[in-house]
Amino acid sequence: MQRYEGRVVLVTGAGSGIGRATVHRMVEEGATVLAADLSPAGLTTTAEEACRPEAVTSLVGDVSDPGFSPAAVAAARALGPLHTVVNSAGILRFEHTHEVTLASWQKILDVNLTGTFLVCQAALPALLETNGSIVNVASTAALAAHPWAAAYSASKGGVLALTRTLAVEYAKQGLRANVVCPGSIDTPITAAFDLPEGADGKLLYRIMSPTGMGDPAVVAAAIAYLGSDDAIHVNGADLRIDGGTHS
Ligand SMILES: NC(=O)c1ccc[n+]([C@@H]2O[C@H](COP(=O)([O-])OP(=O)(O)OC[C@H]3O[C@@H](n4cnc5c(N)ncnc54)[C@H](O)[C@@H]3O)[C@@H](O)[C@H]2O)c1
Repeated sequence: MQRYEGRVVLVTGAGSGIGRATVHRMVEEGATVLAADLSPAGLTTTAEEACRPEAVTSLVGDVSDPGFSPAAVAAARALGPLHTVVNSAGILRFEHTHEVTLASWQKILDVNLTGTFLVCQAALPALLETNGSIVNVASTAALAAHPWAAAYSASKGGVLALTRTLAVEYAKQGLRANVVCPGSIDTPITAAFDLPEGADGKLLYRIMSPTGMGDPAVVAAAIAYLGSDDAIHVNGADLRIDGGTHS
């Protein structure tokens, strides 16, 4: 499939996990990609491991910095017509809600929700020129309770609501906006988490997949579908990719 031939795709969080897998899938499907992340080393690996490294342009930056999104969109537009934006940059911390500091709450909201908003907002004019699409990466935490993840869950619920708003507000102008809600995907974010002291790990059973961890490539395949013309009548949808956890 070459659904992205002649198209530019901007991917945040492209230095690891789902973002990296999305870059690889988009490049396989013919895209030119602007890959953005905080991590220069992560971006280097992403580009090196793409089937066409020359199709990947890397940009180091912080999505929560208001100066980043205009620069990222300008860099993407310099590569050609910007067709799809994928917001995958995100952070996760497990903390007892009564111990969450305001700084921790704000950091998670800034990256996961405000960062997604800023990139969407900056990209809208370009996407409206191309009848383009947005695919935001939320989480099953937007759909069902995830203990010790109050800020993260609030941020991902916000991403879901933001995406639905964009979908309806700009539908008649040809834009589509959809969201994926992954759960239990095998990436560094899930490998690195620690439960807060005294937490009852049994509460996690409700958010664990009956079939184990999923491959980030499966999420990338769903993102590539939602961003493409195959999904031309799919708008404002949330696609859960969690191995049936929340069925
Ligand atoms: N892995 C899962 O099971 C899972 C489940 C639900 C949702 N998600 C979401 O998927 C997205 C991708 O996560 P992942 O699993 O690939 O994790 P990951 O840690 O492998 O990748 C996240 C990437 O985001 C980048 N990043 C973090 N803060 C940033 C910032 N301020 N600016 C720019 N880049 C930043 C990191 O450097 C990293 O490369 C996240 O939004 C995460 O919340 C993941």
